[in-house]
Parts: sequence; structure tokens; C-alpha cells
Amino acid sequence: MERKKVTTTVLKEMKGKKEKITMLAAYDYPTARMIDEAAIEAILVGDSLGNVVLGHRDTLSVTMDEMIHHTKAVARGTKYALLVGDMPFLSYQASIEDAIRNAGRLVKEGQAEAVKVEGGRNVVDKVEAIIRAGIPVMGHLGLTPQWVHQFGGFKVRGKTETTARSIIEDAKVLEEAGVFSIVLECVPWQLAKMITESVSVPTIGIGAGPYCDGQVLVLHDLLGLSGQHIPKFVKRYTDMEGIVAKALANFREEVKSCKFPSIEHSYAMEDEELKKLLRHPFRARKSA
Ligand code: KIV
Repeated sequence: MERKKVTTTVLKEMKGKKEKITMLAAYDYPTARMIDEAAIEAILVGDSLGNVVLGHRDTLSVTMDEMIHHTKAVARGTKYALLVGDMPFLSYQASIEDAIRNAGRLVKEGQAEAVKVEGGRNVVDKVEAIIRAGIPVMGHLGLTPQWVHQFGGFKVRGKTETTARSIIEDAKVLEEAGVFSIVLECVPWQLAKMITESVSVPTIGIGAGPYCDGQVLVLHDLLGLSGQHIPKFVKRYTDMEGIVAKALANFREEVKSCKFPSIEHSYAMEDEELKKLLRHPFRARKSA
């Protein structure tokens, strides 16, 4: 059966049908291709690019040019999944014009089909403007990493009645603004459930429990490629670091012990050509 291209409408229909949505954050062509082939519905080129792939301690230094560079690569590997590009820190906070232009760059240059913006009431004017410009927006509430310094660290959000009410209010405001989906990051599962039941657009959880309409993880976390620090919400489905470490040790050992490369991994010359070559052996030229 021919697979259907996933659009923002498909994700909204999935919520109606209570069909869970899967999304993964990825940053390059080969992983995008594998995710797309695995029929994951959406690929997010997250600004987690900063800490996961570029080695920064957080997402704040990621630039628009870096996001576009990686979104382009992911787009080349994506055929069916919805491609969402993350708006990095300061690409939308300062003005509506910045927001439209930078969202437009992710679509026009990066080939994203939608963008993700962190925040609720504090950024809703930018969210509305991007949507008015024809670009679908995915919201992001709870632990929004671009606000890490204001939050005083990467902590669960919405644990008290007041903060939970504020996140619910933000979700309602984003829904009214026209977002097609909302990521809920690191919030108590009861709050995520309440929001999921009270908004018409799909919620995609990460550290938000089992009752969201979908789930997103960073691919490197899922594969066991992100070092020793494993947040509580991550499930590692394999240990790629262990697998890679073994492969690298084998490669090193086989080269050192002359096991690799063998003739099997080498190119051969035709016998006739070899004979001709041996008839007139190579002599070094005399230097002038
Ligand atoms: O940048 C990112 O990868 C994200 C996801 C964790 C939702 O925002």
C-alpha cells in the first residue's frame, strides 16, 4: 500500500481517531532517511542540535544558519514524515518581523513544512503572525529550554496549582492562535492529561507521561548515543555507544594486527596487465 504523506491535517485527524503520533528529533540526512523509513509521522529538527550534536551545554547559541543547514540535510532524507524546523533562541522573540522572516527561511531555504516556537502568551503575537504568513506552527510549553536561565535550570514545570494553571492557560491561548499541535515537555502527567483532554489539537509529550496524543524523543537519546546523563523520561531502545565502541576497538585491533584490509577488501589488477607491468619493472627516474 502506498504510504500517505503526513501533513498537519493528518496529525489532527490522528488525535480524533485516538491514534498515537510519533515524532523524533534528528539533525542529518542518514538518520532522517531511517526515521522516515520507519514510518515515524514527524521529524523535528530541534534546536537540541546545540547540545546533542554541536557539543554546546544548552540550545541558546544555536543560530538560524545552523538550523537551516541541518534542516536542509534532514529534508533530503524525508519523504513521508512531516518536517518541523525549530525556531532557535532570538529568532522570534525580538519582533514579529524577525519571527516571520526566520520562520520563512526555515521553510524556503530549509524545506521545513512547519516550525516550532517555544512559549505561550509571551510569544503568541509572533505565533499568530507566522501562521498568518502561511506557515503552520507547533507550540512548545512546560520546560522550554530557551528559558533555562529564567527557570534556573532544566526542571519539571507545572508542579504547583498556580504554575499548572498558567500552562493550561498558555495551551488554550496557543490553540486559539491556531497552532496545529503542542509539545509538552517535562510536566506532571496529570497536567499533560488535563491539557490533552481540553485542547482540540494534538499534544506531543516528552517527559509528560502516557496520556498525550503523541510522543517525541531525541533520536540520540533513544539510540543510547547521548552519553551517561539519561533523563528520567528517556527510554533507551539500544546501546549504540556500546556497539560503536566495540566496532572501533575491533577496527583498531585488526589494522594493528594486519587482519584488515585483506585481499577480500582490495581491488585487483587483471593478470594480463600485471604481466605487462612486471615485464618492464618500474625504475625510479634519475633526478636532473
Ligand atoms: O529541540 C528539541 O529537540 C525539542 C524536543 C525535545 C521537543 O524541542
